[in-house]
Amino acid sequence: QLEAVIFDLDGVLTDTAEFHYQAWKELADELGIPFDRTYNEKLKGVDRKASLELILQQANRTFSETEKEQFMARKNSRYQELIRTIRPEHLLPGIPRLLAELKSNGIKMAVASASRNAQTILQALAITDYFDHIVDAGALERGKPDPEVFLKAAEALGVRPKNCIGIEDAFSGLEAVNAANMVSVGVGHPETLAIADTVVASTEQLTWSRLKEIYETSA
Ligand code: G6P
Ligand code: MG
Repeated sequence: QLEAVIFDLDGVLTDTAEFHYQAWKELADELGIPFDRTYNEKLKGVDRKASLELILQQANRTFSETEKEQFMARKNSRYQELIRTIRPEHLLPGIPRLLAELKSNGIKMAVASASRNAQTILQALAITDYFDHIVDAGALERGKPDPEVFLKAAEALGVRPKNCIGIEDAFSGLEAVNAANMVSVGVGHPETLAIADTVVASTEQLTWSRLKEIYETSA
């Protein structure tokens, strides 16, 4: 029985990926490290520290922990400046309708994001009230692909993982959903997200009736 839907934030509810990219790109440029949109794909769903490490792998020198802390702080303050422009109209297509449909059908909802900025973004999108739980990214011990964030969400909702759908746009995120034993729905390209139980091309296709159908055929 489908009882809950657990959402990734970046790339599922709204498209912050571009802001993450811009903020990292400015840092990489200052440090003279090559970084482009193709490489940026690897950073999706990956937490702040692990993202920085991926970028620094491309450098031809090593950095101290103090420097790394500074880089993360610099990236984050630039990112926070960029996300100030987020408004409710920046919800991805179909999301306002889906949230309303799930709520009126008594489906519990949670956000399982690796972002420490999740609360700020949800508030800017004016959707905080839809969620019964928002996982605190700062309290996670292991990032995606570890299932921890999804398992914490299910636990907080008081539902069994097998009664949940997890929606993700990132490969590492889908690995986490699968490892949590939830039904996984990928948003994006079927070739890149082949590990999902179902892939939809756009959030526009995420309706209550489609999710029910996906759950019934995958669980
Ligand atoms: C999400 C994004 C990643 C980002 C991570 C941490 O998972 O997809 O690109 O690195 O959150 O975000 P934060 O806001 O905490 O730096
Ligand atoms: Mg994402």
